[in-house]
Amino acid sequence: MTFKKIDSTDVAHFGSIVGVEYVLTDSENLDAYSHDETEDLRYFPEVVLKPNTTDQVAAIMLYCNRQLISVTPCGARTGLSGGSLPVCGGVALSTERFNSIIEIDERNLQATVEPGVINQIFQEAVQAKGLYYPPDPASKGSCFLGGNLAENSGGPKALKYGVTKDYVLNLEVVLPSGDIIWTGANVLKNSTGYNLTQLMVGSEGTLGIITKIVFRLIPYPTQDISMLVPFRSSEKACEAVSAVFRAGITPSALEFMERDAIDWTMKFADISVPIEDDIQAHLLLEVDGNDMDVLFKDCERIATVMEEYGCSEILFADSASQKDQLWRLRRAVGEAVKSNSIYKEEDTVVPRAELPKLLRGVKKIGEKHGFSSVCYGHAGDGNLHINIVKGSMSDEAWKNDLTKGIRELFELTVSLGGTLSGEHGIGLVQKEYMDIAFSNTNLELQKGIKNLFDPNGILNPKKVFL
Ligand code: LAC
Ligand code: ZN
Repeated sequence: MTFKKIDSTDVAHFGSIVGVEYVLTDSENLDAYSHDETEDLRYFPEVVLKPNTTDQVAAIMLYCNRQLISVTPCGARTGLSGGSLPVCGGVALSTERFNSIIEIDERNLQATVEPGVINQIFQEAVQAKGLYYPPDPASKGSCFLGGNLAENSGGPKALKYGVTKDYVLNLEVVLPSGDIIWTGANVLKNSTGYNLTQLMVGSEGTLGIITKIVFRLIPYPTQDISMLVPFRSSEKACEAVSAVFRAGITPSALEFMERDAIDWTMKFADISVPIEDDIQAHLLLEVDGNDMDVLFKDCERIATVMEEYGCSEILFADSASQKDQLWRLRRAVGEAVKSNSIYKEEDTVVPRAELPKLLRGVKKIGEKHGFSSVCYGHAGDGNLHINIVKGSMSDEAWKNDLTKGIRELFELTVSLGGTLSGEHGIGLVQKEYMDIAFSNTNLELQKGIKNLFDPNGILNPKKVFL
């Protein structure tokens, strides 16, 4: 597919749609929109557009579809799979001016928002009304809800409360043709037609541009306790994960961090937690609810399970500042690893009881291909973030040999009943591995759906599929 290059006529037309001050072609802005948080990748758009109404987005899409100009939607650009990179140049369509919380409907426990609202701002706005929106990616202080929908983001609380898709009821979407649709209805049950709402969630901005979101909300749990559990063996820590659930407890979060992840993050974020020298990994757990007595009992039962797997001394955090410190530490791991070395991050997910096998396999594959890795993530969901660090690997090996090692990692993941990405998406950087997760027939169906929505292939091209 070759796209039309943007010329001065196009720029003038975009100006007539969104206003000239929201059509950006200067090098500083093109640079800012050329990257997200994925490795060190850079792809420059030819123009950045910042519409703020659905009709403006529709007019942009209608024009670009006719002119065969590629359009890449982008939000806060915190993504980790390159989904918002304008790999074919063209338009970077920013949703940052779609930043209003339109309504919080306390009678129905629902909210209608625009896609450029920051996750944490939304969480705080609903919490002020005693309501809860649980999906909380590590970047919640900056990421947009629209991006969370595009990637079907999770975060630690997904364990008990589910991921983004579990809170989306209905969407207003601008299609590549410029047509505007609502995908469903503002209801908790819906057996009416195909589920286009859920098709849009996780479609990585390849099928349409979301301009309004209707969420369901739940009551806010008022109490929680966090505990940090050290282990001398990383594998034992992973084994303990599924045992917690078998003991009849569903924590609100259950995270895994290897020793390096904690050490690097303590330095990076200037946080100090006492750790004995021979500790290899930690589990960070949280239980929540409305009754402290129940939570204390849950913690006791969790501690018993952890001791069965040979944990070291558990740190219970019940003060607000201690909890804050532990969770700041956990949320900063990704950035800390990034600051430490050139890296690639995989987002594998397996059925949770297979976690020990996955971790063992990751280390073995690393030894075979000469890379080291730092693993952490949402262990309760079986979702392991594997940071492959370049360290002393040669540029040549990093560029040419690593793909084979990553392929083996994904083959192992799929052989354990898992898949390529739990919450970061496929985007640009994992698309060459899709054949491991899906048959040809399945992939052809998925590509057929893309083609139906976007026959000219102008929307977020070269993403998800090879
Ligand atoms: C995290 C992000 C990287 O879990 O998904 O920290
Ligand atoms: Zn994560």
